[in-house]
Amino acid sequence: MCDDAAMDADADPDSDLTARVLASFAGTPSPRLRELTSLLVKHLHAFVAEARPTEAEWAHAIDFLTRTGQLSDDRRQEFILLSDVLGVSMQVIGINHAASETATASTVFGPFFVEGSPEFANGDDLSGGAPGDPCLVTGHIRSTTGVPLPGARIEVWQADETGHYDVQYADLPTPQGRGHLFAAPDGSYRFWTVRPVAYPIPSDGPVGELLRATARPVMRPAHIHFMVTAPAHRTLTTHVFAAGDPHLGHDAVFGERPSLITPFTHHAPGPTVDRDWYSVDFDLVLDPL
Ligand SMILES: [Fe+2]
Repeated sequence: MCDDAAMDADADPDSDLTARVLASFAGTPSPRLRELTSLLVKHLHAFVAEARPTEAEWAHAIDFLTRTGQLSDDRRQEFILLSDVLGVSMQVIGINHAASETATASTVFGPFFVEGSPEFANGDDLSGGAPGDPCLVTGHIRSTTGVPLPGARIEVWQADETGHYDVQYADLPTPQGRGHLFAAPDGSYRFWTVRPVAYPIPSDGPVGELLRATARPVMRPAHIHFMVTAPAHRTLTTHVFAAGDPHLGHDAVFGERPSLITPFTHHAPGPTVDRDWYSVDFDLVLDPL
């Protein structure tokens, strides 16, 4: 006699494994956590079923994730970088920050934000002595309703002319290319910094290994990071990208948005600045809550 069901079970005793793992989460009190764990199991099992990894490949994957975590701390966030290069960061931003057409587009947060940046007044220089061409950044903060947003908090962070953020140096005594200021009563802001340049994302860790193994570019086009908060408005995390940068179109972390590409104007040395310098005017428009 031949019981087909019994034979199938003998051939693959784990045929109901996914169902049993899903069932193990069925009693999760939080409906949202139950949904998330169920989806994770469902899609992870489907990935493994299709990819059919060898045990050596799976061990390599575990080692890759282990090293990604070991390299992450309050100054270096390799997991954010991994999320960025896989396009997941931009996917999450797209889901959570679907800005109206008149608001400034959001983009990736990146791995180099640091809490507790120094405060500056409008017109100050926040470069902190970072090497690079002087650059004057101006603009207005306003709501999509058109009203200015005086007092809006503007966080700024960027790389220097060598393509490094201050936190990538081991021994800097004070922050460079990093700070926050508040919009003036008319909503305007103004600060000096250095002109941003294109830079490679950190490639000395697991994410760098991944990009090299897959022959992917590691460069990010020149940009300055902004995070703007104002009462009764959605927080805006974005960049201004420098128009003309040859790496535009090949951003390693998929953060580029055409609407954020802005000209940086060159100025010859003059009475107030004794070397070549640049300026950019970049308005930041926030959606009301
Ligand atoms: Fe950046």
